[in-house]
Amino acid sequence: MKPLIAPSILSADFANLQRDVEMLNKSEADWIHVDIMDGVFVPNISFGFPVIKAIKKHAKKPLDVHLMIANPDNFLKEFKEAGADNLSVHYEGCTHLHRTIHAIRDLGMKAGVAINPHTPVNVLQDIISEIDLVILMSVNPGFGGQKFIESTIQKVKYLKQLITTKKSKAKIEVDGGVDLKNAPLLVKAGADALVAGNTVFGSKNPTETISLLKNSK
Ligand code: DX5
Ligand code: ZN
Repeated sequence: MKPLIAPSILSADFANLQRDVEMLNKSEADWIHVDIMDGVFVPNISFGFPVIKAIKKHAKKPLDVHLMIANPDNFLKEFKEAGADNLSVHYEGCTHLHRTIHAIRDLGMKAGVAINPHTPVNVLQDIISEIDLVILMSVNPGFGGQKFIESTIQKVKYLKQLITTKKSKAKIEVDGGVDLKNAPLLVKAGADALVAGNTVFGSKNPTETISLLKNSK
């Protein structure tokens, strides 16, 4: 199975967002990954609702929104209204994760849970059958262009086992430092979706790079 490719708009040219979104529309990308950072949960600030709405206006592919914010419960409806199709929250940032997941689903979005590199996958065992997506962070969240943490490949395998055991339909998405070298290893380990920021937008021909990632094997 070919992986879903989710280029991260964080590495796009913000002065030419429409151009970059249109490039993604015409490419083999499946989702547009949208990173939201609040300067509290992570040591960086990205952008907020007006920018998501601007992306949505031009996007022909689903918006895969990754919240790296404290208290995401306060804003779930606003993210839906801004155009989120997948909405992922961090395990480490949600005290009542079960409630948050169901609130996301009740709003008509796919619900995802992201876990940081230090968080073991087995903390998801009692929620895995109720979620649509797990984002395995392969860098510490907050910045694009960081180095891939190799042990994530083993983590993908553990998560795949957990998903099979629990008969869950959750997809595995890997986020951070994904490149043309580790992509085939991640797919082989069981990843269903790959996020790529720097690898796509830092390349000479982003459309071709997306296609190479899509055909990783
Ligand atoms: C990291 C973000 C990532 C980031 C990935 O905090 O969650 O989605 O944009 O960028 P690259 O692929 O450049 O590591
Ligand atoms: Zn992300």
